[in-house]
Amino acid sequence: MQTAPLLPSTAPFHEEQIAALNRVISVTTAEQRAWLSGYLAGLQAANDPHAVSPAAPPAKRAPLTILFGTESGNAEALAAQVRKAATKLGFAPKVVDMADFTPAQAAATENLVVIASTWGEGDPPQRAVDFYEALLADDAPRFEKTRFAVLALGDRAYAQYCEIGRKIDERLAALGGARITDRIDCDLDYETPATGWIDSTLERLNAEVGVKEVGASVIHVDFARPGADAPTRARPFEAEITESIRLTGSRSTSDTHHVAVSLEGSAIQYEPGDSLGVVPSNDPSLADAVLKAAGLTTDAKLRDALIDRLDITTLTVKQMEDFARETGTAPLPADWATGRQIIDLLETAPGALTAEQLTTLLRPLPPRYYSIASSRKAVGEEAHLLVAGLRYTSHGHERAGVASIDITARHREGDKLKVFLRPNQHFRLPADNNRPVIMVGPGTGLAPFRGFLQEREATGATGRNWLVFGHRNYTHDFLYQLEVQDWLKSKLLTRMDVAFSRDQPEKRYVQDALWDARGDLYAWLKDGAALYVCGDANAMAKDVHATLLRILADQGQQDDAAAKAELDTIRRDGRYLRDVY
Ligand SMILES: Cc1cc2nc3c(=O)[nH]c(=O)nc-3n(C[C@H](O)[C@H](O)[C@H](O)COP(=O)(O)OP(=O)(O)OC[C@H]3O[C@@H](n4cnc5c(N)ncnc54)[C@H](O)[C@@H]3O)c2cc1C
Ligand SMILES: Cc1cc2nc3c(=O)[nH]c(=O)nc-3n(C[C@H](O)[C@H](O)[C@H](O)COP(=O)(O)O)c2cc1C
Repeated sequence: MQTAPLLPSTAPFHEEQIAALNRVISVTTAEQRAWLSGYLAGLQAANDPHAVSPAAPPAKRAPLTILFGTESGNAEALAAQVRKAATKLGFAPKVVDMADFTPAQAAATENLVVIASTWGEGDPPQRAVDFYEALLADDAPRFEKTRFAVLALGDRAYAQYCEIGRKIDERLAALGGARITDRIDCDLDYETPATGWIDSTLERLNAEVGVKEVGASVIHVDFARPGADAPTRARPFEAEITESIRLTGSRSTSDTHHVAVSLEGSAIQYEPGDSLGVVPSNDPSLADAVLKAAGLTTDAKLRDALIDRLDITTLTVKQMEDFARETGTAPLPADWATGRQIIDLLETAPGALTAEQLTTLLRPLPPRYYSIASSRKAVGEEAHLLVAGLRYTSHGHERAGVASIDITARHREGDKLKVFLRPNQHFRLPADNNRPVIMVGPGTGLAPFRGFLQEREATGATGRNWLVFGHRNYTHDFLYQLEVQDWLKSKLLTRMDVAFSRDQPEKRYVQDALWDARGDLYAWLKDGAALYVCGDANAMAKDVHATLLRILADQGQQDDAAAKAELDTIRRDGRYLRDVY
């Protein structure tokens, strides 16, 4: 049953009235609520001809198209935020995914807000590639009748910072579009700057094209929806770790843990395919080393901030420029930042900054995301994660991943982890339980598919399930091996293919397993299978994509362009879905 919407505490009633009304509303059906609101509005209108009519339609609402290109959902969430703000101002907003739009359609819009993230090394999100390439092509349409504004999402730690948003912005202007306002480039802590930009952009657009009298006749009501109290990045839930088990063998080169957290008492209601955001803490010994390099070892408040609030493990070109300016030192070349951290920069001029200067220099500590590896139908009020502890050497220094090592090494069972939900509507099991699914998930990419399989088992789904898993070594790295083997035995798993890269002289990866199984893979796709890919974005997902194109060309006996068109159709049908990072 759908949960009834409740009145928010901001509703124009006393606290006791809100509580009394909510008690009544909470046990009503959708029809009863619709009847009640219509009945009261009708009575009011009949008795008071001057009453404000909540349903009065605005005279004419200016159209606004909000176009987003996303990989992991941030741009889409911001697009929804723009829609909400634009509706309040009286616009008629429409949100569209670049995956479902062409430059010709965009050029036909009057008012366009574009929100695009950058992936890979300066690449567009996968679903946005076609739109992006067509926009940059020589035969792109003119945008003379379009007013536009671009919000670019990115991460300053990457050399090609906000590259895609920047290029779209330049291209729209070159094609004759008129900027409503300058582009904004947003780093990982995008919420506050993005909100400011959205408000000012819409205000400016409203001043140009908005309908002024609209505000008077529309009452905007923010109904508290189920989940409105759900934890957020700024207000995470403290989830107790109920289990933390290393899955990889002691001789494995990887250190991957199964981590179960309790969500009891939180409003988190996840679906398989969603991720949990984790708000990590930095390694206290690294915070101490940073303090030492900065000559600020006695500042306890600063130490707390370095552990819990600030990013101390990356280094951006902007930070190097700011540091040189603040300290009067010679600026370092941009490529010096590659593979280095803030501590390396501080060590070039020890003790040169005040605590305030250091705090200003550092970015906020961003959360990390982990695919949920369970189904609530199987595990109840828990979420399971599959976390690979990251350790590597760079410029002769041993480095540790902030969140993965925080979760797997500094947290023990019984400790609390700060979490919030990141839903992913683009990575869901098919609504049709009979549809076959192919799941390609090497390494920690296996995580969501464990959730999928638990869900399909719990719901008695009849569709066939094919898992393709890969890692380095069969003996040490076969994650969730016993469960997977049980699922093969019980026939929940119809088929499983593995690729262990280091078990034979030549490297073997999941894309090789797919190629070897190309006849069956093609037959499953022809039977309507949905194909999912999760895990490494930079190498694996690209190689799998290229292999799928080869398979469609080979098995369909068609040229590359026809194979690409077929994969595009499968993707547009919602049968080629990726969650890659
Ligand atoms: C939607 C989504 C789902 C995800 N699901 C999972 C999951 O299920 N399981 C999982 O383990 N992870 C998952 N991740 C990745 C996870 O969010 C983190 O990125 C990962 O754990 C590393 O975070 P960290 O804080 O430990 O490392 P960080 O401190 O963020 O360090 C990572 C950085 O270290 C640097 N680096 C890494 N290796 C090297 C190297 N060899 N040489 C030089 N530099 C290097 C790179 O700059 C890299 O960006 C997911 C990510 C997303 C976006
Ligand atoms: C694997 C990976 C590669 C990325 N590459 C870039 C990049 O080249 N440039 C950049 O500015 N940001 C890069 N980012 C950061 C994303 O753009 C940023 O996280 C953004 O908020 C994601 O938005 P989305 O969820 O809408 O896709 C990368 C992130 C990941 C995980």
